[in-house]
Amino acid sequence: MLEIKAFSAGYQGNDVVHDVSFHVETGEAVMIIGSNGSGKTTLFRAMCGLLGASSGEVLFNRDDLAGMPAQRIVRLGMGFVPAERHLFPRMTVQEHLSLGAYPKRPDPETMSIVLDLFPRLAERRRQRAGTMSGGEQQMLAVGRALMSRPRLLVLDEPTTGLAPKLAVEAYEALGVLRDQGLTLLVAEQQVPLAMAFSDRGYVLENGQIQIQGTSEELAKNPEVRRAYLGVM
Ligand SMILES: Nc1ncnc2c1ncn2[C@@H]1O[C@H](COP(=O)(O)OP(=O)(O)OP(=O)(O)O)[C@@H](O)[C@H]1O
Ligand SMILES: [Mg+2]
Repeated sequence: MLEIKAFSAGYQGNDVVHDVSFHVETGEAVMIIGSNGSGKTTLFRAMCGLLGASSGEVLFNRDDLAGMPAQRIVRLGMGFVPAERHLFPRMTVQEHLSLGAYPKRPDPETMSIVLDLFPRLAERRRQRAGTMSGGEQQMLAVGRALMSRPRLLVLDEPTTGLAPKLAVEAYEALGVLRDQGLTLLVAEQQVPLAMAFSDRGYVLENGQIQIQGTSEELAKNPEVRRAYLGVM
């Protein structure tokens, strides 16, 4: 579904993601793990058309996304949930979900799928996003992205700012989406959660993929255990 080849991106002519290649097959849940500043957000933003790439290819199904504006990439079926969530504090849950379908009209069937997945959002349709808890805001950010009916959902650190219990709940919801057949790509520092959720993963350090494997292989890898799982 997604193939990234020799991809580089950065800021003001300085690359911070160097020659990265990876792929995501239909139906897979894939994680990119890496510590602060390793380049996860830069990689995702460049891939989704929110930041210019300096070289490489992004093949999404049959399309080459290089240089494509973000809105067109969404229309091709790639949904993105940024770590900062980018909600509008004064807008309601309902308004955010409607906006997620833009430029199409919100489809009632999709709306009910999203509200079934997140009953909390259904209860709070008229509540303003700014007054919701961190966990609810995360649900709303995911729900909004789902309104465009993505074939691939890309999430940048979906557990940002969440208490441990809510982080577990966030991954439970993602697990439901995975089990329904949605293809998922997630960047994460809460590695145990992401590992239990994903089929495969890549370790990004200093803007380069250093290790890759199935989640089972990564869980056994001594370097991964030391750096990301707190095992001495
Ligand atoms: N707008 C920007 N201008 C210049 N440099 C930036 C900008 N945004 C990020 N960087 C730099 O790019 C590098 C990678 O940052 P990035 O945000 O992609 O890392 P990350 O893996 O997402 O980190 P975190 O886990 O903290 O979110 C860092 O050195 C960072 O300082
Ligand atoms: Mg980041």
